[in-house]
Amino acid sequence: MTREIKIFDTTLRDGEQSPGATMNIAEKLSIARQLARMGVDIIEAGFAYSSSGDFDAIRKIALEVEGPTICSLARAKPDDIDSAWQALKGGANIRIHTFISTSDIHLKHQFRMTRDEALKRAVDMVERAKGYVDDVEFSPMDATRSEVNYLCEVLEATIEAGAQTVNIPDTVGYTTPKEFGDLISAIRKQVANIDQAVISVHCHNDLGLAVANSLAAVYAGAGQVECTINGIGERAGNAALEEIVMSLRTRKDIFKADTGIVTEEITKASRLVSKITGMQVQPNKAIVGMNAFAHESGIHQDGLLKEKLTYEIMMPESVGAGKTSIVLGKHSGRHAFLTRLEALGYHPNEAELNKAFERLKKLADQKKEIFDEDLEALISEEMARPIERYRLVSIHSESGSELKPTATIELEIDGKGHKKTGHGDGVVDAAYKTIASITETKSVLREYLVKGITGGTDALGDVSVVLEEGGKRVKGHGADTDIIIASVHAYLNALNKLAASSAKGPEDQKVGLI
Ligand code: KIV
Ligand code: ZN
Repeated sequence: MTREIKIFDTTLRDGEQSPGATMNIAEKLSIARQLARMGVDIIEAGFAYSSSGDFDAIRKIALEVEGPTICSLARAKPDDIDSAWQALKGGANIRIHTFISTSDIHLKHQFRMTRDEALKRAVDMVERAKGYVDDVEFSPMDATRSEVNYLCEVLEATIEAGAQTVNIPDTVGYTTPKEFGDLISAIRKQVANIDQAVISVHCHNDLGLAVANSLAAVYAGAGQVECTINGIGERAGNAALEEIVMSLRTRKDIFKADTGIVTEEITKASRLVSKITGMQVQPNKAIVGMNAFAHESGIHQDGLLKEKLTYEIMMPESVGAGKTSIVLGKHSGRHAFLTRLEALGYHPNEAELNKAFERLKKLADQKKEIFDEDLEALISEEMARPIERYRLVSIHSESGSELKPTATIELEIDGKGHKKTGHGDGVVDAAYKTIASITETKSVLREYLVKGITGGTDALGDVSVVLEEGGKRVKGHGADTDIIIASVHAYLNALNKLAASSAKGPEDQKVGLI
């Protein structure tokens, strides 16, 4: 049987405790609405007593957001409890969440209370909250560093006082999965009335274990997980909601548990929280990172194109992240390249594909991101390439305010190497004159046009030229991140067309001509 785990979202309370993540009321309201669309069970909307902004936000959310239970945090103090009630009252489903520490470290150094005093205060404040609302949650702060017998005593007493949820916080992110799972099991065994309350967990991520600890607790019987979108929160943050939810959904077979979250809304929630708080999501972040469903390795791409199951354990669509993306880069394979070209409407033959693929690899070494426009430039050049009489082997060029523009060019003509150095009015002019000299051609350059294909200084430059010789005009194209190399490719492309056209009979002479 699959248990349903409640998702208690604390993005607006613990999440807002991330340094710099303060949100205004309108921003909190828009996040709360998205959380409601996503189907979270409880929204901890803030800490009413802590500021008038928090109070007003909780009030607005309690009155306007339908669906989830709306909760306010309150220290175990009468004024805090009263303020939480004032902020929540009138809401359809409301909860007061009160807390006090139970670890000796906190009681001795921070609260300056004995264990008995803390226990009495916890019980009194649960009862006070219970006078206002039915739904009361109690948290023994720093539970994972508390003495277990005392912790269980406090839990039993607060359940007796009416707490319907007892939350076990790993306040300082200190526990480990095995230890935390064992603690939940011990609580289930030792607390006599535990069946009258839901066990919740609230894990911080100081050791990077917040999600693993929360899942270990679910495995051991916890029924509610407290978490935040993108894992934001105090210090290293809280357990990330999207990771908890997708772990339970993907590995239902292991956990025998699931949530009621509409997972397709996850990506929207992540982007909204990131935009509002200004906290960027790291690209490799699980579930919601930009690269979470992007595959670059040729081996993975080949497998995916044959069958998604080979390298994908979740569908990107299931978290509202669009489609799997096959990123063409230096590790990509021919299969992915051809698939993308076909999607773009190109059907190259084997030789064209091989040449364009070779150039893709070179381009990927120079350029961070390869766009469809780059691919189109490469393949259209290869597919329009006539039989090559002239082929560029290398180019070295020099220019500067004190230098005479110079180009040294090595070409293969009909498979044989030729190299020359020449000068000109600019580097392109020097290169073109040198090529004309090596090839002993007399064509006239009628047009020269440079176009950036994609944005950025590492963009592919697309050069088109028009050459005229013996009454024939041909167009040539070249693309490269280096504008001089692109210019040389364009010039040679046009020369090759001229050579091809003069090698054919009069009927064929239109091939490759403008
Ligand atoms: O981390 C913590 O202990 C808390 C409590 C208030 C639940 O945030
Ligand atoms: Zn916390």
